[in-house]
Amino acid sequence: MKQISIDIRDTRVSVSPSTIEGMLPESRECLATVENGTGAGNDFLGWVKLPEEITAEAIADINASARKLQEKCEVVVCIGIGGSYLGAKAVIEALSDSFSAYRHDTGTKVVFAGQNIGEDYLYELLDYLNGKQFGVIVISKSGTTTEPAIAFRLLKARLEETLGKKEAAERIVAVTDAKRGALRQMSDEEGYKTYVIPDNVGGRFSVLTPVGLLPIAVAGFDIEALVNGAKAMEEITRSEDYATNPALLYAATRNALYRAGKKIEILVNYNPKLHYFGEWWKQLYGESEGKDGKGIFPAAVDNSTDLHSMGQWIQDGERIIFETVISVETSAHETVIPGDKDNLDGLNFLAGKRVDEVNKMAELGTRLAHVDGNVPNMRVIIPAINEHYLGELIYFFEKACGISGYLLGVNPFNQPGVEAYKKNMFALLAKPGYEKETAEIRERLSAEK
Ligand code: PA5
Repeated sequence: MKQISIDIRDTRVSVSPSTIEGMLPESRECLATVENGTGAGNDFLGWVKLPEEITAEAIADINASARKLQEKCEVVVCIGIGGSYLGAKAVIEALSDSFSAYRHDTGTKVVFAGQNIGEDYLYELLDYLNGKQFGVIVISKSGTTTEPAIAFRLLKARLEETLGKKEAAERIVAVTDAKRGALRQMSDEEGYKTYVIPDNVGGRFSVLTPVGLLPIAVAGFDIEALVNGAKAMEEITRSEDYATNPALLYAATRNALYRAGKKIEILVNYNPKLHYFGEWWKQLYGESEGKDGKGIFPAAVDNSTDLHSMGQWIQDGERIIFETVISVETSAHETVIPGDKDNLDGLNFLAGKRVDEVNKMAELGTRLAHVDGNVPNMRVIIPAINEHYLGELIYFFEKACGISGYLLGVNPFNQPGVEAYKKNMFALLAKPGYEKETAEIRERLSAEK
């Protein structure tokens, strides 16, 4: 079976092969730090062996819960934010028919909530659910995050109102901490089916736990194949050689580029199904590396769409960027461009060609142009978009992230910066326990007037 691979030849515009080669000893040390758990944040390394440790029984149990929800529900609302949302969203979007939201024959639909505090979003969600059989998967490791808690309160109330408490409890599955947090307590009291997020797996590394696997299974996808793909990559990324370990090479190359002044990495896709994969990747790298005044800023574009918006900047703006292109070798379906006898649009030179061939030329042409414009490029090559290769890709980026964070000299597994907005928000909303902060923030605001 093919596997995902990486091509870094087009980074030579900014860093020489010998520079990257010279980073091998350092990169190996960082790999060993991840593997042996000897670095900062080592109590959050549960994800490293997760694929090999997931048992067949655990997968069967998740699939059984998914079937139960599918049998009862036309719609399952998956509630969570950040790491408790993006992995499932990325995989479901990548594997779903692009128009599944508008089709009526595609089984249980999975929709998301709790990833924002949009009043209209929640109003419209409740309106959409009116008269539908629905269930809820509520995901929060801490069990205290405000955004998902608000969405859950609304949906729980609606379920209980329409079905009564007992039947509502049958349609709610919670994924949370084993012991701590409001969601754990509520689940125990209400008798919800629950799954545990292991203590040693942080949110952004949790897609291969029930956090990601349960919603993905409810959406009808093969979670065993996803885990097997990750397992294959777990094996591969133990290697200490660039030639056989793409995660090691990717981590080293992006740090070499950063040290050469490239401060922004753009993850590029040429398949719209990968849009949310970019969002997942942004969280993984942004929260892991952006700290202590350091870090590559992770951005993402969807091409060729964004060539008509961000293309100008990338080609010609400040030269502080590099690109990592997710290059998909084969598309799932064939669509051939027809000929036209009048050829008014001048497109007959494309007649008989597959759309994917045109897309591939857009990708190649863009890569060459960007290299000419001094934008180093890496390619992560994925044979196809399916469960197996997405599992490989997820683990590849996770492992590289751990290595890369250590190369950068940060703790890749904490996120102290995300607390700042919460403290202010709670102070502004006068949450009990925040009396001092409330007084301070009110004073600050009145001084600003
Ligand atoms: O990666 C992280 O730790 C965060 O993005 C969390 O996943 C996010 O804040 C949600 O937290 P919780 O699952 O505790 O509700």
